[in-house]
Amino acid sequence: MPDTFGKSALLLSLILGMGSAPAYSAASTTEAALASAHGIPHPAVIAHRGASFDAPESTAAAYTLARDLGADYLEMDLQRSKDGVLFALHDNSLLRTTDVAKKFPQRKDSPASAFTLAELKTLDAGSWFNHAYPDRARSSYVGLPILTLDEIIDIAQGNPQHKPGLYIETKEPRQFPGLEHDLKNKLSERGWLEPVASSEAQGQPQVGQGKGRVMLQTFDKNSLELLQKEMPGTPKILLLWVGEGSITPEISLSFADSGEKDKAAYYSKQHPKDKAEFINWIDFAKASGAIGTGPSAALTHGGEQSYADLIQPWMNTATHDRGMLVHVYTLDEPVDFKKAMDAGVDGIFTNRASELLKFYQRPSTQSVSQLLENNGY
Ligand code: G3P
Ligand code: CA
Repeated sequence: MPDTFGKSALLLSLILGMGSAPAYSAASTTEAALASAHGIPHPAVIAHRGASFDAPESTAAAYTLARDLGADYLEMDLQRSKDGVLFALHDNSLLRTTDVAKKFPQRKDSPASAFTLAELKTLDAGSWFNHAYPDRARSSYVGLPILTLDEIIDIAQGNPQHKPGLYIETKEPRQFPGLEHDLKNKLSERGWLEPVASSEAQGQPQVGQGKGRVMLQTFDKNSLELLQKEMPGTPKILLLWVGEGSITPEISLSFADSGEKDKAAYYSKQHPKDKAEFINWIDFAKASGAIGTGPSAALTHGGEQSYADLIQPWMNTATHDRGMLVHVYTLDEPVDFKKAMDAGVDGIFTNRASELLKFYQRPSTQSVSQLLENNGY
């Protein structure tokens, strides 16, 4: 099956004339052709919450920087405000990345979804970054607001030289019944569920204009099925990790009971229960309409984003054998970019789009500082 699919995908991509050979690719031409047939760059640079190493995550500073660096996709975690507006925020709580404790002390522990958009817009979603990362702090980050999906779409469309796509995660979808339907309506209203007409795109469409301009992602099986029902023609991936709500671990032991010194050490010892358990999850992804998976990875230097290693070569081969792509989250260092590419992944979620673009030999001609300053930061 994979070879047959690969050949037809290659033929289709040649007919469509989409995509060009990347400067770096450890994966086979079969996966490159498969990605191209879906209109997805290969390998793909997915700017995780924007260029969030250099600017406060999910703010205009991070998304405009990722766009202008040349990232293929702007990644976001989608939530819905109390009055029904779609907005981007990773955490359920506002405490880590905003001044909610100062502005709404009585409600500081409420989920973000318990606030109206007008209330969310009063929050400062930038200053926390300056305190957490003083070496990357900028006075212009103070007061940056939370963004709506509409505003992120405006950013994605805002640079005539480079139009990235959107890589949208339904975050905690059980908290938001109907989120998939609301997302479909918004993307449809903004004209993002169809490729841009070739006359408007003037020649070969950019990522944010072609058929892979929107990628949908979720950890939640039910949400994947709802996304498929609402947007059957839009590429989707199933996010994977080892733990509650996802792949069953070999040994069920909480971090507290594990005796490990940090979460990275704990996760590095987490494995799927067995091979069949991993295969069941990728088979589910395929049967539910996903064109790929988004597995976690163990980072060489640990840290908060280091999870179970789900990009072992046999895992990537099993996924490829089913005609699916692998987009791994979340890698920031060249040592991990290389390990992942050598293991056969097809794209990387990164907080450091500037570094991944360099690694793929697609560096921005302007520095991070220059681009931030160009955008008024
Ligand atoms: O969406 C890919 C990756 O972002 C999943 O992890 O927790 O950063 O959303 P998280
Ligand atoms: Ca995410």
